[in-house]
Amino acid sequence: MLKNRLDWHLSKFSTLRYLLFCLAFTLSFSTSYAQDEAAAEASDGIPTDEETINQGKSLFTNNCTVCHAINEQVVGPALKDVHERRDLPWLQSFIKNSQKVIQSGDDYAVNLYNEYNKTLMPSFDFTDEQVTSIVAYIKSESQAPAPTAGGGEVTEGGEVSTGGQAGGISSDYLTIILLGLLVVLILILVVLVLIISVLKRFLSQKADLDEEDREILSQKVDVQKVVKSKPFLGLSLFLFMAIAVKLVIDGLYSVGIQQGYQPKQPIAFSHALHAGQYEIDCQYCHTGVMKAKSANIPSANICMNCHQQVKTESPEIQKIYAAIDFDPETQTYGNNKQPIEWVRIHNLPDLAYFNHSQHVNVGGLDCQTCHGEVQEMEVVYQHSLLTMGWCINCHRETQVNAEGNEYYDKLLELHEAADSKEPLRVEDIGGLECSKCHY
Ligand code: HEC
Ligand code: HEC
Ligand code: HEC
Ligand code: HEC
Ligand code: HEC
Ligand code: HEC
Repeated sequence: MLKNRLDWHLSKFSTLRYLLFCLAFTLSFSTSYAQDEAAAEASDGIPTDEETINQGKSLFTNNCTVCHAINEQVVGPALKDVHERRDLPWLQSFIKNSQKVIQSGDDYAVNLYNEYNKTLMPSFDFTDEQVTSIVAYIKSESQAPAPTAGGGEVTEGGEVSTGGQAGGISSDYLTIILLGLLVVLILILVVLVLIISVLKRFLSQKADLDEEDREILSQKVDVQKVVKSKPFLGLSLFLFMAIAVKLVIDGLYSVGIQQGYQPKQPIAFSHALHAGQYEIDCQYCHTGVMKAKSANIPSANICMNCHQQVKTESPEIQKIYAAIDFDPETQTYGNNKQPIEWVRIHNLPDLAYFNHSQHVNVGGLDCQTCHGEVQEMEVVYQHSLLTMGWCINCHRETQVNAEGNEYYDKLLELHEAADSKEPLRVEDIGGLECSKCHY
């Protein structure tokens, strides 16, 4: 008897030991496996921290998106998984100076160059860290799931703007998670109903039930009662409110945002022709940019500098003549003038103050930074968001153009004296103060 118990204890003990052993084994296995994985991440030398990735992202959007996207070919190849095709040192030298790599006779680079019809990728004056951060960004994007069709809205600019990407989780994910939960709930419901019906059938076959039990058993589910019940009403109300709040928030975020806005203009005036092909300087027509708040839309007089002679027979040019009541036959003006009604594309609300000369003349910014490649547009569209966040972001990131500006020389001295290693940015000269942008 005693021996039996002892045996039993012993066997229990060995089972326990066996279990412990198994546990320890799995643990040690899984940790060593995790270590392997960490080692793999470090061995390609591409950092995975968020700060680096964000830095890479902004470098990428500012310098590369004209020609590259992650998941699709634009001017250059899609960059998805490029960190697997090439190692980091190769990518660093290629991105900094692709021509040098091609001229060195690197097979991969030469083939790629030929494949892309010898399109030049410009050189970039980046440090290794900067290029690494771009690669880190490309890697992190490559590992993210490709955007689903319809997930992003393609604006006329060919850019993809996704609505709800501001937060950590994209709204696509949220929808998928919610749908998954819904499916699980429905499954649970079905199983419960099945169980109930089986139980009912089982119980009704039993004879010894008292009155009360029978009553419960024969009860039918009263749909009307359910609909009117408090929990049901509460739940519906909650769902309704949740959907309404989401719609309102989505709506608020898009108020006044007209990126991609491209109205039809009264005269088929083409920037691609005038500013692109004929290389007429932007300032020739937009006379205000260097010295005034507003860039100005040119008056018909400026068009007439050329079109009094050029293309006089074109119906589009005749519209200019009609506006200023000009008779090309007699070369005389009548007095029935009407301004050409160009449709305004860029429009900040009245509460905000924006000054062109401050940015173009003092700041030394190109028109293209904010307006995109206008000289390639047949019809101009709004390239940037023009939201407060857009202004502020650039003020945070852009260094003040202090060259040859005595006023800034002083500021720069002060800034350096303050022992700041960061360069002087627009935010440091008050570019984030509410009153600078709001009357
Ligand atoms: C003016 C267009 C243009 C710009 C801007 C540009 N690229 Fe490229 N890129 C190309 C083209 C075209 C190729 C194909 C090779 C060639 O023709 O030289 C290429 C190739 C590459 C490759 C090799 C791709 C592969 O599949 O192996 C990488 C990596 C790359 N670019 C990264 C960048 C990065 C990073 C930037 C921004 C800092 C950038 N490029 C900016 C046009 C451009
Ligand atoms: C020959 C005259 C001419 C030249 C040169 C010219 N533009 Fe224009 N621009 C116009 C006219 C006319 C309009 C109004 C019609 C339209 O939107 O196309 C306009 C509209 C615009 C708009 C949109 C304004 C709005 O309504 O918000 C922008 C931005 C712009 N131009 C930028 C540029 C840039 C940048 C350049 C130089 C690369 C340039 N323009 C060169 C005549 C010119
Ligand atoms: C500096 C000279 C110059 C100025 C200023 C200028 N244009 Fe032109 N424009 C041209 C030239 C050159 C052509 C191309 C003619 C051709 O295709 O033979 C042209 C073509 C056009 C055409 C196309 C006509 C057609 O039917 O093919 C339109 C429309 C036009 N311009 C409108 C305007 C308007 C509106 C303005 C004023 C905002 C303007 N242009 C100012 C030089 C000018
Ligand atoms: C820092 C960004 C930025 C730069 C750089 C810039 N613009 Fe603008 N531009 C804007 C904004 C913002 C508006 C809308 C202004 C408003 O509604 O008050 C605008 C409006 C315009 C308009 C519409 C008429 C007006 O004056 O409101 C024209 C034309 C224009 N820009 C041309 C140019 C040209 C040409 C250049 C280059 C010489 C240029 N812009 C450089 C941001 C910029
Ligand atoms: C592409 C970058 C960029 C964007 C976008 C931009 N700015 Fe600026 N902004 C600058 C730079 C650079 C300066 C500094 C100019 C200088 O040296 O004084 C500046 C200066 C200013 C100043 C003067 C600040 C001061 O303290 O003197 C105001 C006001 C201003 N911006 C308003 C705006 C508004 C409003 C918008 C959005 C509609 C905007 N900016 C968008 C680059 C930008
Ligand atoms: C660099 C310029 C700039 C600075 C600095 C700035 N704003 Fe704005 N703000 C804008 C522009 C441009 C708009 C209009 C664009 C929009 O509606 O998104 C705007 C819009 C707003 C609006 C209206 C939002 C709406 O949806 O209509 C409020 C409120 C506002 N700003 C408050 C502030 C406050 C408070 C500060 C100081 C902490 C500030 N802003 C600093 C440029 C600026």
